[in-house]
Amino acid sequence: VPLTSTRSPRVQAVRRLTRRSARAAERRFVVEGPQAVREALPTLVELYADPDGEQRFPELLAAAPCPVTRVSRDVLVAMAETVTPQGVLGVAPLLDVDLATALTGVPRLVAVCEAVGDPGNAGTVIRTADAAGAGAVVLTEGSTDPHGGKCVRATAGSLWHLPVVSGPTLAETVQALRTAGLTVLATSGAGQDDLDDLQDRGELTGPTAWLLGTEAAGLSEQALALADRTVRIRLHGRAESLNLATAAAVCLYASARAQR
Ligand SMILES: C[S@@+](CC[C@H](N)C(=O)[O-])C[C@H]1O[C@@H](n2cnc3c(N)ncnc32)[C@H](O)[C@@H]1O
Repeated sequence: VPLTSTRSPRVQAVRRLTRRSARAAERRFVVEGPQAVREALPTLVELYADPDGEQRFPELLAAAPCPVTRVSRDVLVAMAETVTPQGVLGVAPLLDVDLATALTGVPRLVAVCEAVGDPGNAGTVIRTADAAGAGAVVLTEGSTDPHGGKCVRATAGSLWHLPVVSGPTLAETVQALRTAGLTVLATSGAGQDDLDDLQDRGELTGPTAWLLGTEAAGLSEQALALADRTVRIRLHGRAESLNLATAAAVCLYASARAQR
């Protein structure tokens, strides 16, 4: 018998996970839609499917390592953050790892966002870092939770592809990266070095971590001071600056090209 009551405690429990404090307390988050459910499948602790989901994704339901709960469309809509959920919704353990664990793989390319508040930007940086072959992403203290619905959706599955560290201070992050042998480059429109020049001089071939600032304030003075260099991306037109995720794409791909 499918679960049809939108007032059921199960619905309330899933809904609660839209709050960061509840995710932190329960160490679980909501995974919406077939793509994310497929990525998270081996780790799922709960899986819900409405009639449409049952019909369209039988392979996901069959492969789930947890019980599958059939729910009405209304219940799935009540559980989901998206307005039109796509048939399936799961609950999975949080994915974030600590800095030391993320760096054990000795990554050659890392993206660090300092206090990134916008989940769309954070998710896009994670997706871009994955695409560029980076070995880890760090979101420092004061950043958005990568397990929030908006951020998860913006990663388009990349959240499951590389370690994401959440919450260390900028100072401890830089220290750990340096100990792991990475050169730390801070990005700023007023950076001392021009990205194209670094690339042309062959100075991007080594292991590199890129520091990225917030949309409103850019990197802190502390971040700029801690970095080995500050780097600017040349702006050829009249734009005052780049969006931080776009700047991440330019820098990470410059490194990927130089390193590969
Ligand atoms: C919108 S910008 C920050 C603008 C802020 N008002 C400032 O002056 O730094 C957001 C982030 O994207 C990156 N960024 C944007 N434009 C850049 C450029 N031309 N060169 C290097 N990094 C840039 C930096 O990481 C920056 O902190």
